[in-house]
Order: sequence, then structure tokens, then C-alpha cells
Amino acid sequence: MSFKELYQPVHTIIGEGCINEIPRHIDNIGAKKALICTDQGLMKIGTVKMVTDVLDSVGKPYAIFADVLPNPTVSICNQAKALYDSEGCDYVIGIGGGSPIDVAKAVGILATNGGTVEDYNGLELSTHKSAPIIAVNTTAGTGSEVTRAFVVTDEKRKSKMLCVDSNSLAYLAINDPTMMVGMPPALTAATGMDALTHSIEAYVANSRCPFTDGIALESIRLIGKYLQRAVENGNDMEARTNMCWAQYMGGLAFSNAGLGMVHAMAHQLGGFYGTPHGVANAILLSYVMRFNMKSCPERYRDVAQAFGFNTGDMTPEQGALAAVRYVEELAAAIKIPPLKETEFDPKDAVVLAENAMGDTGMPENPRQPTIPEVVEVFMKAYLERRD
Ligand SMILES: [Fe+2]
Repeated sequence: MSFKELYQPVHTIIGEGCINEIPRHIDNIGAKKALICTDQGLMKIGTVKMVTDVLDSVGKPYAIFADVLPNPTVSICNQAKALYDSEGCDYVIGIGGGSPIDVAKAVGILATNGGTVEDYNGLELSTHKSAPIIAVNTTAGTGSEVTRAFVVTDEKRKSKMLCVDSNSLAYLAINDPTMMVGMPPALTAATGMDALTHSIEAYVANSRCPFTDGIALESIRLIGKYLQRAVENGNDMEARTNMCWAQYMGGLAFSNAGLGMVHAMAHQLGGFYGTPHGVANAILLSYVMRFNMKSCPERYRDVAQAFGFNTGDMTPEQGALAAVRYVEELAAAIKIPPLKETEFDPKDAVVLAENAMGDTGMPENPRQPTIPEVVEVFMKAYLERRD
């Protein structure tokens, strides 16, 4: 028998003003008090207040843990869990891009399973459903509100733990574009390219299926149409709303199909130099597509069609090249910096390539590279060689 298990949040709401629906769902689960996991930046610009105003208006109590940092550590998760316990909370609201939602997932799993975060480093290691998690996404996006994964840095061993656990799927995922209007253009650009990378990698991934194909292509179409508009005018609600849909579908696509060599390489730039995740993906995406092109040109031609090209008269190779060039032009138009303007140092390329080979994304890539081939892709991106 051949079958595929799909992973998704229990409930999802997408659209302008949908944060107002949160109390209804809190009533449905009968929860009493929330721990809000977020960061200082989102506190400062008033994004968290948009949610707490909704909770205040109906008298729902909460405590706030606002000390989540990028690449959250075990100790940050432990601090959040300690506050969850001391405040008598019974569910979690994560407000943010990837990191606060990752911490919310960690707290939710610890609350019902006990132990420490390290116990869940791996695949499906918890036994109980997490405390209810409401994941309020503020970027478009990492897809973190959609997925069953959370990443926590083990500061003692200086390594990143990837906890993949369907018990950590959100009870409610919220994508309200009004939460995203405050995102500066560079962040909109980087997170939007992350979403595009999720969809393109999922569309060519070895574990793809008809469900992920459909949502990946529609996500690519929407990003092609709306990302630049959202970057150029953050108040363009039509663009922001469509980017919400696109990033949600991209999250669902990669959560169920897997990722690929772009993420495998981008994770190394993030780990080594702290390069923002979306920027790293945006830089590498077109170079990896060129590397993969001969293994799946028909698939990349579909991507070109989703971008709006009339591919009827194109060979698969011509279509694939059109898709790659579109990605390059989009990245340039929204001012993604080239690799040589980041911290990347060519002398690290071999180590980065070796580490990329062990990344969970790599087995999903349609063409398996050798270490020298990964080095070559890094170097082509560094030298901006498009051959
Ligand atoms: Fe990503």
C-alpha cells in the first residue's frame, strides 16, 4: 500500500481583521490563561498590542514572555516555560515570525510531556498533544505557524536542534495582513523570498504529491504577482493579503513535501554568519535552480508558467531558464543583496558544503550534489556567475 500522511494546523484563519476571531477559538478549547511568546521588537511597534487588545476586550487573561531572540536557545525556552508554570497558564500564543512561534511550540510540548527541549530533538519524540497553540504570524513568511517543526539552539553544544513533531502542530494558525503592514521593505522582501523558496523547493522535492504540487504552484503565482507590490508599498492590503495566502500555502507545501538544496545551503550561512534566513535563500535560489535544472526542467517550466510566462511553445529547458531568470530579476528588483555583500567568506565554502550535505533538506533535492558541486554553487553565487 502506498499512502501519504499530511500535516496541517487544526484550524486556520486568513484575512484582514481575523485576529478578532481568536477569542471564539479560546472558548472552543475551554482554555483559561495564555502565555504569549513574542519579542521586544514586536512589543515596541505595537504588533503584540493588536492581539492583547482583542484579549482585553473580552477579558481573557494572559502573561507575556517577550524575550524571544532570533535563533532561540534552550534557556529561552526554559524561561518561557517557567513563566507559563508560575502564571498558571494552560495554552500558548506565539506572536511573530519563526522564532516566537518556535518557542511557543517548545513550551506547548514541554507543558504536556515534561522533560527538557533536548528530549524532543528528532522526529516525533513526544507522546502527548501539546498544550493548545495559537500561532499568530507576523511575517509572510517562514511558514512556522503551519509546520510541525521547531528549531532550538543548544547553546552548550553550539548546535541547532530540529524538533519535528506532529504534536506541536498549532490548534489555530492566524494570518492577518493587518499584523504585517509594519514590516519594513527589506524584511518583506526577505521573508517573501523565503516563502517563494518553500514553494519552488516543495514543487521539485522528491516527496512531493498532488496536494503539495497544487498549493506550491498557486503560491508561486501569487508571490510573482504580489511580492514586489508588498515591498514597494507596505500598506497595499491586496498585496499583503495575497502574500498571506502565498506564504501559508508555501508553508503547507514544504511541511508536506520537504525542502531542498537551497535551504540545506542557506541553513549553513545562517549558522555560520547569522545571515538572515530569507536573505540566504533569496541569494541561493536561482543558483540552485540552475544546478537542478537538468534533472527536472519540466517542473521548472511549470514554475515559469505560474509566473505568467506563456510556456506553450517553450521546450522544458527554455521554460526552466525563464523561471530562473524571473527569480533573478525579482530578487534584484526587491533589493536582495548579493552573496559578496554578506559575511560569507569563500575559504569557509568547503566546510559549509560538507555541513549542507547533512541537512534534512538535501535528500529531498531532485539532484543529489557532491561536496565539490555544493562548493561550486556557493562560489558561483559569490562571483555572480550565471552559467
Ligand atoms: Fe525557509
